[in-house]
Amino acid sequence: MRVMLLGHAGLKIETADATILVDPWLSPEGAYQASWFQYPENQHVINPALFTPTAIVISHEHQDHVDPWLLRQVPPEVPVIIPRYSSPALWKKISSFRPGKIIEVRSWEILKLSEQVSVYFVSEESPMNHDSAVVILGQGHTILNMNDARLSPAQIRRIRNRVGGKIDLLTIQGSGASWYPMCYEYSDEQKMDISRRQRLAKLSYVERAVRASEPDFVMPFAGPPCFLDPELFIHNREMHDGYFPDQHQVEEWLGLQGFKNTVTLFPGDVWDLECQAKEPDRLWEGFSYGDRFDYLNAYANNRRAMIRNVLQRFPHPTVSLWEPFRDYFEKLLQMSPYFNQRIGMRVGFEITGGGGGEWSVDFREGLLGVCQGTNDCVYKYRFESRWLLPILNGTLPWEDFFLSLRFSVWREPDLYNDHLLGLLKFATPEALRAVELFETSLNQEETFTIQTEGRNYEVQRYCPHAGTDLLETAEVLPGRILRCLAHYYEFELESGNCVNGICPRLKTKRR
Ligand code: FES
Repeated sequence: MRVMLLGHAGLKIETADATILVDPWLSPEGAYQASWFQYPENQHVINPALFTPTAIVISHEHQDHVDPWLLRQVPPEVPVIIPRYSSPALWKKISSFRPGKIIEVRSWEILKLSEQVSVYFVSEESPMNHDSAVVILGQGHTILNMNDARLSPAQIRRIRNRVGGKIDLLTIQGSGASWYPMCYEYSDEQKMDISRRQRLAKLSYVERAVRASEPDFVMPFAGPPCFLDPELFIHNREMHDGYFPDQHQVEEWLGLQGFKNTVTLFPGDVWDLECQAKEPDRLWEGFSYGDRFDYLNAYANNRRAMIRNVLQRFPHPTVSLWEPFRDYFEKLLQMSPYFNQRIGMRVGFEITGGGGGEWSVDFREGLLGVCQGTNDCVYKYRFESRWLLPILNGTLPWEDFFLSLRFSVWREPDLYNDHLLGLLKFATPEALRAVELFETSLNQEETFTIQTEGRNYEVQRYCPHAGTDLLETAEVLPGRILRCLAHYYEFELESGNCVNGICPRLKTKRR
């Protein structure tokens, strides 16, 4: 079995009887409204044969994994294999631009794609997070493709046991996909400080995933993206020591933790699982991430006209968006009393440009409603009206918009509200109900003991956010703070309060 990196999270997996593409992203327009681009560039891997694979496997709905530009060129009889999530968003997104066959597969259900190749997904435990690892089995080899998914160590061990204890290649994201803290109204120093901490937390998670899976080889991939629009170019600094480390930095960091069998592929490079050897694409001779800014400046010059064209597809509206905004959020407020209660605040929207205005949505009990003005808001989004219209008419999902980084957000107190994002991104009663059922059934009884800074604490074993086993996925920070590495919520061991998000209390008791 041979694996070619197509760039970013895209893989081409070949056996004698099948060619499988996983999360291919090759659009010359990048993704997220020409905000993200593949880094390094991957256009040279495009050739006619790429458009006639045996199957295409898509792990989740983010635009750097679902590429309409590519999928539209693939014949409709080529199946697209996706995980079954509680929300139909991924299925709807693909079928909105491609009339072909889509096969939804439940987590852990094995699907045979050819005589030699089978595949299955393992989705994150909480239905709040629609991310899945892809396990690819072929010719006696196993690839565990974690991409952006944060599986629990128990899930990873279960995969390992299921495949007979041997994972040949683990492919895993070392660079996050997030707008935090880049779009938050913090000082520059605060942003860089948070980014550095996020980077370390992400790398710690990677380390734990590697320890749990014990692969023969690890390949960091699925990022970093680069930003070529002059307005967003500043975010490339995240690669230096912020939230978007490059593959070599992840490789170096894993080396410092004692993992030597790490391999970096660039687009077009191939890893042969049989020989455990790399076949490099000669294009990359002399390429170095160290020459980042010259490379990115030249890349940005090449894409300037294309970025302008994409932005022109989002004109500023000429009529007020107030009524569609109000109707949209009034409908959303009817969907889930549980989510409304968990959001529990007034959220403001400052929409600039033609048709915009200052409006708010109140999620507080007894005050539910949509109104003009942003008084009393403790959370405020600011962005241009050109983005709001496609969001309201459903052609631009909220998360795809947020990942474009083309907005800013202010909040006081400075706490992450997972349910606000969850409501915006799912927006169907069934998907919201699935989250509610999951969260209200979490086991809070089992405990374990933590000893830190001279004190002992008896702590609830499963994270109150989404149920990850803290015994395996948590670290203790100075100041008696416990951080869950699944989604980086932090809890005071003394009080159990979550200090960086709106999350139920962690049950703790000093002993
Ligand atoms: S499970 Fe999400 S932070 Fe712990």
